[in-house]
Amino acid sequence: MITDASQPDKDYTAALEDEVRQFRLLLNGVTDYAIYMLDTAGTIKTWNQGGQRIKGYSQGEVVGSHFSRFYTPEDVAAGAPQRSLEVARNEGRFASEGWRVRKDGSRFYASVVIDPILSDGELIGYAKVTRDITERLETQRLLQEAQMSLLHAQKMEAIGKLTLGLAHDFNNLLAVVINALDLIAMRVTDDPRLTRNVEAALRASERGALLTRQLLTFGRGQNLTPQSNDVNQIIGDLSELMRRSCPENVDLTFNLEAGLPIIEVDKPQLEAAVLNLVVNSRDALQAGGTITITTSAQRVSDPSSPDTDHDMIRVDVSDDGEGIPDELQERVFEPFFTTKDIGKGSGLGLSQVFGFAAQSGGRAALTSARGQGTTVSIFLPIARNSV
Ligand SMILES: Nc1ncnc2c1ncn2[C@@H]1O[C@H](COP(=O)(O)OP(=O)(O)OP(=O)(O)O)[C@@H](O)[C@H]1O
Ligand SMILES: [Mg+2]
Repeated sequence: MITDASQPDKDYTAALEDEVRQFRLLLNGVTDYAIYMLDTAGTIKTWNQGGQRIKGYSQGEVVGSHFSRFYTPEDVAAGAPQRSLEVARNEGRFASEGWRVRKDGSRFYASVVIDPILSDGELIGYAKVTRDITERLETQRLLQEAQMSLLHAQKMEAIGKLTLGLAHDFNNLLAVVINALDLIAMRVTDDPRLTRNVEAALRASERGALLTRQLLTFGRGQNLTPQSNDVNQIIGDLSELMRRSCPENVDLTFNLEAGLPIIEVDKPQLEAAVLNLVVNSRDALQAGGTITITTSAQRVSDPSSPDTDHDMIRVDVSDDGEGIPDELQERVFEPFFTTKDIGKGSGLGLSQVFGFAAQSGGRAALTSARGQGTTVSIFLPIARNSV
């Protein structure tokens, strides 16, 4: 009987070829990961569909070139690609996350693993697996932001409660002091020195009463009297006072959207809020500049129930002044937070804005960058029947 001695070899080769083919199919079927091989110097030897999808290069464009082409110029300059191969070689694996560059120049956040490939104990190259995790990074960032703003809201709520209790007590005490001083003032009309003292005491007490009213507003304990009001009219009527509070080197400009709906708002509180903002902007414009007051109608999503949009009136007070450093931005609405000298600011202006906006069913927001100016926006709800 003749047997074909080459038959087992043929089967073996066919099986091997089949395995290689299947392996290639598998690698190319993976499109969420760039999986490729490097030689010992870091030159790309193979490429898969995932590599093309994530980094934008076809196989012909990258095979034969050095893998450092995917790194940012800063990382290349710092020797990161070479170092990652060294770590993989010396420690048996390199794993990290970092920014990489696609063919079109855009950047993506990558999770990278590099494993050394050994044959009989000798290094013959590296296997590199890269995953695009930009979306995960973005989700983490949004989650962190949401947590931070929740913490901030809770902190403001706690300070508000504390402030409210204090302000109520002080208000009552000051009412007694002011009443008593009024009575004394009536009796000491014939003594000019005493009269002057009593007047000074009255002025100080009234200033104290004003401060406690601002604190009450921050703690949302001020009784608001909302009435139908036209925001543009309120700002128009205030314009003269605003101009007078600004020096000559500060320009005041108005950008008021015509035909805005009427809103239900406490007029004196809105006036106080806008004035507080204009005064803040003026103080930030020591070298002169422009303050712009803008009104507009906007659909704004409610952070507490993101599915619902609200029609709001937005009042922006912007300046091109010194701006607020990032690290201070979340503190400026807190009562008594001030960067001004003693006697120049009590740190209650923005607290009044914050409390008034919140108590009116709206909110206050801040955008600022150091050296590029500040915008504080007050959002106030439009009553349903006035739209
Ligand atoms: N437009 C602005 N540009 C730069 N910094 C600002 C601006 N508005 C507010 N700030 C910063 O926020 C701080 C707090 O402002 P806020 O109005 O609450 O208090 P104040 O102006 O210091 O004192 P008060 O308003 O009670 O007189 C200010 O001290 C300042 O550092
Ligand atoms: Mg102020």
